[in-house]
Formats: sequence, C-alpha cells, structure tokens
Amino acid sequence: MTDAIPHLTLNDGQHLPQIGFGTWPLDDAQAQTAVQAALACGYRLIDTAARYGNEAGVGRGIAASGVARSQVRLTSKLRGSEHGFDSTLRAFDATLAALGTDYLDLYLIHWPLPMRDLYVDTWRAFVRLREEGRIRSIGVSNFQPAHIDRLLSETGVLPAVNQIELHPDFTQAALRAWHARQGIVIECWSPLGRGEVLKDATVARIARKHGRSPAQILLRWHVQHGLVAIPKSQDPERMRQNLAVFDFALDAEDIAALALLDGEHRQGGDPDTNDER
Ligand code: A2P
Repeated sequence: MTDAIPHLTLNDGQHLPQIGFGTWPLDDAQAQTAVQAALACGYRLIDTAARYGNEAGVGRGIAASGVARSQVRLTSKLRGSEHGFDSTLRAFDATLAALGTDYLDLYLIHWPLPMRDLYVDTWRAFVRLREEGRIRSIGVSNFQPAHIDRLLSETGVLPAVNQIELHPDFTQAALRAWHARQGIVIECWSPLGRGEVLKDATVARIARKHGRSPAQILLRWHVQHGLVAIPKSQDPERMRQNLAVFDFALDAEDIAALALLDGEHRQGGDPDTNDER
C-alpha cells in the first residue's frame, strides 16, 4: 500500500506526499542506513536539517538506494546560528555539499528566533535561492502567524510550508485553521509525539477496532486532517507500517474520540522562546 501515497499541492504549484520520513535524531551512520531502508519501503519525502548533523549520511543513503534523485523530495533546514542574508547563502552551499546534491526540493528556516530578529533577512536569501532555481520550494519551521505575517508584509512572499509539532495530544486547531486560510501546508514533526502518544488507551482501542497499530491510527489522523507527517523510525518493519495508512479510514466516531486527547502537550520547543542555534 505504498504505491499510492496522496500528495498535497503547495501554494507554489509543487507538491508533497502526505507521509515522509523524518531523520531526527539519527547520526550520519544511522541516517544512511535508515534513509536507504525508507526509500526501499517507498518513502519519497526525506527530511533532514543542518542542525541534526546527519546531512552527509542522508545523502549517502539516497545515493546507495538506487532511487533517482529526481524521484526524492529532499528537505533540509537552515540552523539558527546561520540566520542572516550572507550566512544563509553560505550555509545553503554547505548543506548541498553535505547532501551531495545540487538542489533542494524544500528548504526551511528551522526556528524563527524572534529574539535575534534576523528571520526576514534570512527569508530574502531563501527567495533569492529559489529564484536561482537551487530550491524548488521555500518554507519555514516552528513559525507563528506573527512571524509569517512579517515575511509576507516585508518580502511579499508567503512560505509554501510550515513544519511544526502537531499530533493528537497537541492539535493546534486555531493554528491549523489559520494556515488553511493562508494556503500554507503544515508538515508535522514528531507526529507520534516522539512515541509518547502511541501509549494512549483510546489510540490502542481504535487500533484494535481497525486491526491496525497505534502508529497507523495517529498517522491516518494526520492524513485525514489534510496534513503532511514525517514519522521517524529506525526499524524497517515500522517504516513500512507507518507508510501503510492509505487503505483504511477513521470514521466520525474515531475522529471524535481522538479529538478528546488534546492535552496541549508539546514534546519540543516553543517557537516564541526557543533559541536553538
Ligand atoms: P524507532 O525508531 O525505534 O522505531 P516521532 O516521529 O513522533 O518523533 O516518533 C518517533 C519515535 O516513535 C521513535 O522513538 C520511534 O522509534 C517510534 N516509532 C516510530 N514508528 C513507530 C511504530 N510504528 N510503532 C512504534 N513506535 C514507533
């Protein structure tokens, strides 16, 4: 069931499969093995970041997979220490060199770091790189509406994607509605709540009802909410499972039960205060 992964169309005309493969917190060697296995399973969206320190491993995994580069939607992210126009251009070159490629499908500003106030200059460099054809789509990660409003008002260019933490225990309903109005696709990091939400009793009950695993219930929830999710796993069997979510559907009762799970619990940092360089 990995041959028919639905895609979402972005506001720049590009598209993304609704399930991709996340690589945090793998090191180079682990990322190489995992990415090669994920591509063999049928994943075609691979997500990394300069800050993960595994871009070289991701690049080697793609090369070893035998899957053509043109068939892979490759995403990386600019780390916080590189915010600023010139430093972004330099960091992008380093990312391409580490990945062993000459373009990215999607490049994201990893965190807004509003306390540094450099994300608009950074965004201008992203726009330049897209104009030069070196990035297909440009986006952001962990941005709040106020940060995106500034990008739009100061550059006139809206991100195609915002990658944020989002799962049934942290559903960010108002933020999702805002992105839908803006036409920005949400990519969800830690869609399994870093494994924590898999332990929930309601998720387990719905999993038994459908003869599926808890992870499949959570990822199907993302798919039915019109989101992109990028679960990470080092286990090829789990990788396969996480991609096999397109041959069943949650019903209205399941969706209503899962809606009660939202404890507004983040697993990761807060976009307004996180200063991760
Ligand atoms: P592992 O790599 O050993 O499979 P998230 O993507 O939300 O950050 O969650 C990642 C965590 O969930 C990892 O600890 C990963 O462990 C685990 N995980 C990923 N897929 C599954 C699955 N299908 N079943 C159980 N645990 C999973």
